[in-house]
Amino acid sequence: MSGSVDFVAAFLSRVRACSGVFTCALTGGSAATTLYPRLAQSELDWSRVRFFLSDERLVPLDHPDSNYRALRQALPRAVLEPVRTELPPAEAAAEYARRLPPTLDLVHLGLGPDGHVASLFPGHALLAERALTVASLTDSPKPPPARVTFTLSTLTAAREVWFLVVGASKRPVVEAVQHDLTCSFPAALVARAARSTTWFLEY
Ligand code: 6PG
Repeated sequence: MSGSVDFVAAFLSRVRACSGVFTCALTGGSAATTLYPRLAQSELDWSRVRFFLSDERLVPLDHPDSNYRALRQALPRAVLEPVRTELPPAEAAAEYARRLPPTLDLVHLGLGPDGHVASLFPGHALLAERALTVASLTDSPKPPPARVTFTLSTLTAAREVWFLVVGASKRPVVEAVQHDLTCSFPAALVARAARSTTWFLEY
């Protein structure tokens, strides 16, 4: 499955099939300027969805690097839970974790050229984090350095994970994650452990 029409149709069908409020974590990155604007134009009942962020940069919510700012612009009608980025990193992570539902219905993840997802980067100590559902880091190799991110346990506990991959340069990474069982990219760790994964390839 790939392409924006599939993406929007699939999202609408998931929300319609949910009896209560559907919970979805959005990704940062270029999904905000490719797929999400098309969702914004759909006939989604926005009151039936509560949106979170699978990671966030610890900058003011109106800062150009803020995922919340980009997602707010892309999805102006969304009920979107911002991270309290004014708090110290560990406190911001713990405070956001307290607002998460026990199990998310859906998590969207972009895919970095190094195979990172959310703000979980190759070789980073956070990949071994099992206690926290949301963690903080101040050494992100992708700027800005200070972030909060869902941990692997949160990503793999979600009912569904959708990978929203933008740009043909990611094709080799997608191939490795999907077909190399020895691949240790964070995206591969998620894909192998998730309850359900779907790929939307925008290239
Ligand atoms: C972030 C994003 C990050 C992003 C990937 C892919 O806050 O930086 O959440 O994980 O999804 O880096 O970004 P692109 O889709 O822009 O390549």
